[in-house]
Amino acid sequence: MTFICIAAPLHYTDAMLPRAFGCLALGLALGACSSSPAATPAAEAPKKSIAKVDSFDVPLAGLEPEFLADFNDGDLLFSTPLRDSDGLGPLYTRAACSSCHESALRGPGLVQKMSVVDADGVTPASDQSELAYGHTLHPLTAGGGKTPILAPSDDPSVKLTQRFGPPVLGRGYMEAVSDAEIERVEAEQATRDDGIHGRINWVSYASEANEDTRFHTYRKGDTLIGRFGLKARVPALDDFTADAFQGDMGITSPLRPTEIENPDGLDDDDKPGVDVGFDSVNERANYVRGLAIPSRHTDDIGAGLFEAALCSVCHVPSLHTRADYPLAALADMDAPVFTDMLIHRMGDELADGLPADPSIDGEADSFSWRTAPLIGLRFDTTYLHDGRAKTIADAIELHRGNGSEANPAVDAFDALGAADQQTLVNFVEGL
Ligand code: HEC
Ligand code: HEC
Repeated sequence: MTFICIAAPLHYTDAMLPRAFGCLALGLALGACSSSPAATPAAEAPKKSIAKVDSFDVPLAGLEPEFLADFNDGDLLFSTPLRDSDGLGPLYTRAACSSCHESALRGPGLVQKMSVVDADGVTPASDQSELAYGHTLHPLTAGGGKTPILAPSDDPSVKLTQRFGPPVLGRGYMEAVSDAEIERVEAEQATRDDGIHGRINWVSYASEANEDTRFHTYRKGDTLIGRFGLKARVPALDDFTADAFQGDMGITSPLRPTEIENPDGLDDDDKPGVDVGFDSVNERANYVRGLAIPSRHTDDIGAGLFEAALCSVCHVPSLHTRADYPLAALADMDAPVFTDMLIHRMGDELADGLPADPSIDGEADSFSWRTAPLIGLRFDTTYLHDGRAKTIADAIELHRGNGSEANPAVDAFDALGAADQQTLVNFVEGL
């Protein structure tokens, strides 16, 4: 649901301090709010903490009316919980997309993963057969399901980890980025001598062909660049939406017509046959495609530090998009996504123990994560795939790890003085 009235404390210099702020409310939300002057900051403080009001969870400017209608329908559907009679189950984790992507931000819902690991706790064991129903927990049942998929309670070699639903702001930009750009960045990183070598996660399009061919004409099994998911295991937003429906909600669609394998041996639920049509998938996907990048508050000094600390090697400030992407607002432009869309080895501390496998995360192994896009982070309250960081500074420190490609960047961050570190954190919060 779109409504905007958010205040996040930020530190800005005087020049960036807006003189007035207000709340903007859209859709079914309350009417317009009043403007009021910003509190007068202490005159002598070099940096001021201000209440910053910005809109997010809003559509891109310049969308065609027909697509905007889809966006609005998709926005509503995204936060509508589905019931047994809609085809929920036999297994599910949450009943609405927004349960795990509230206001298009991180969480609060999450998905738990499990893997059998060696004694070091991070290397996947060669035998994963103990996990007969795969590596994802499905804790709830509906529509006739009786037996959830949980982690074996008595086996210390099974590693349990969490993935919060990541923010979905600006993901249309990421879908629009051209393959050639991602391949260029991968090739450039391969020549570096500091160990930062991101890789493309080559994956299969896992859905049946979509009847709406505006965005692509992929067929099941096509090999493509993975872009979405915390390990870039999915190439397109309709494929992801159908995957989330099937895996997280037990909702089948023409793109993913079968229920996931379950201990009760059920191949259907209370709603006979395929649960939803193409439109249900496409409207939700189009909502995600149409989400804007919130307004940015950055300065050149912060941008310089972001580059000097090597952040920009992985969090690439912009990538060029396809000229033929069907949303004109996103076609043939520099998409300011602050990711390279590549997977990087991030060390033992962030590892989840999952093996590289086409049915799990493609070529991404236990240690690999996609560079998180830095978009609207000031609206989030937790960071990293499992939300373990509570501040941006924590998130940066947690890039350090045994075998992490990001170690030189954390070294560079740590070598900065306190004021420069704060300027860099402010820059990231302003993205
Ligand atoms: C139970 C929680 C949960 C539900 C419900 C859920 N998601 Fe997600 N979503 C996640 C998690 C966790 C990830 C990361 C998955 C991964 O890394 O494999 C994710 C990733 C995504 C992504 C990719 C974002 C990125 O940064 O690449 C999109 C898009 C998305 N979800 C859309 C949806 C839609 C649309 C729905 C409803 C049909 C939905 N999700 C329902 C938890 C959820
Ligand atoms: C080697 C590539 C690499 C470098 C260099 C790097 N990052 Fe990251 N960054 C990542 C990856 C991968 C993740 C996701 C890790 C996870 O979720 O566990 C991430 C996540 C983040 C996040 C959390 C975003 C979110 O939505 O949770 C922030 C903030 C961040 N990086 C900032 C920085 C800053 C600032 C620097 C420079 C000091 C930096 N990164 C350097 C790869 C990198």
